[in-house]
Amino acid sequence: MKDFKGKTAVVTGAASGIGRAVSLALADRGAKLVLADVAADTLETARAEVEARGAEAIGVVTDVTEKASVEALADAAWDRFGAVHLVHNNAGVLIRAPMLDADDKDWEWILAVNLWGVIHGVHAFVPRMLEAGDEGHIVNTASEAGHFAGDLYGVYNTSKFAVVGLTESLARELRNTKIGVSMLCPGQVDTGIFTNTNRPASYKRPGDDVPVERRVADNAQMPEDVAAKVIAAVEAGELYIFSHMDEARTLIEKRHERLARALNP
Ligand SMILES: NC(=O)c1ccc[n+]([C@@H]2O[C@H](COP(=O)([O-])OP(=O)(O)OC[C@H]3O[C@@H](n4cnc5c(N)ncnc54)[C@H](O)[C@@H]3O)[C@@H](O)[C@H]2O)c1
Repeated sequence: MKDFKGKTAVVTGAASGIGRAVSLALADRGAKLVLADVAADTLETARAEVEARGAEAIGVVTDVTEKASVEALADAAWDRFGAVHLVHNNAGVLIRAPMLDADDKDWEWILAVNLWGVIHGVHAFVPRMLEAGDEGHIVNTASEAGHFAGDLYGVYNTSKFAVVGLTESLARELRNTKIGVSMLCPGQVDTGIFTNTNRPASYKRPGDDVPVERRVADNAQMPEDVAAKVIAAVEAGELYIFSHMDEARTLIEKRHERLARALNP
């Protein structure tokens, strides 16, 4: 997609962090916005911010873990704007703890938001976008953590490796269509993810939540800078969007070296 003017974009996890920043950046480029988030109050704040930039925008309270909720989001988008051109499946949550300390509910919550949220988004939007026949683009938010494992990130790594696999497969399936595919793989971004414990009731742990210590790395980027990279990659039709190029290159190369050693004993 080269031009966002007059196009309709749907962003999940739009009330905060990266999703909010992408929504504002798209508004600045003339897109109409459908903002989706489970957090109603901050969603309304983000919708008002997007509107203040001169863009038409609706906010749809959505729980991406629920197929019916994401289908209702798609219906709301088509009802209001008659078309959908860009979908950013971005909502995501984190626990940062050894996977052996994770409860089943932790696994279910992380996988339900980070993986099933993307699956629901793909199913609810892509067939209808293909049928409409317009040029379009899907962005799925994975992470650097979808390309190499890190200490304390086992549950999160599992969800994000899956999003990488899903998105590479989707890119293959859509390669002869008018719909482009990208995956966003950021390093650390200064957002609300470390403090979000807003679990839907069905994912509450029986005991206390695993505490997520807020840890802002020295090289954390701002969501606005990541949003600019998303826009540029969609315009260029690039599959991979990394924010922290040097860090990601080092860690991914290390993983590939280990694989290469195993394959060339
Ligand atoms: N911040 C980072 O360092 C970082 C790094 C790599 C990848 N990511 C990914 O970026 C994406 C955006 O996260 P962020 O960092 O902007 O965090 P954030 O917490 O600021 O924003 C995430 C948004 O998702 C929403 N959300 C959570 N559960 C939801 C649900 N069930 N349905 C709908 N919305 C839901 C939250 O309410 C929140 O508004 C996530 O997929 C995250 O995994 C973040």
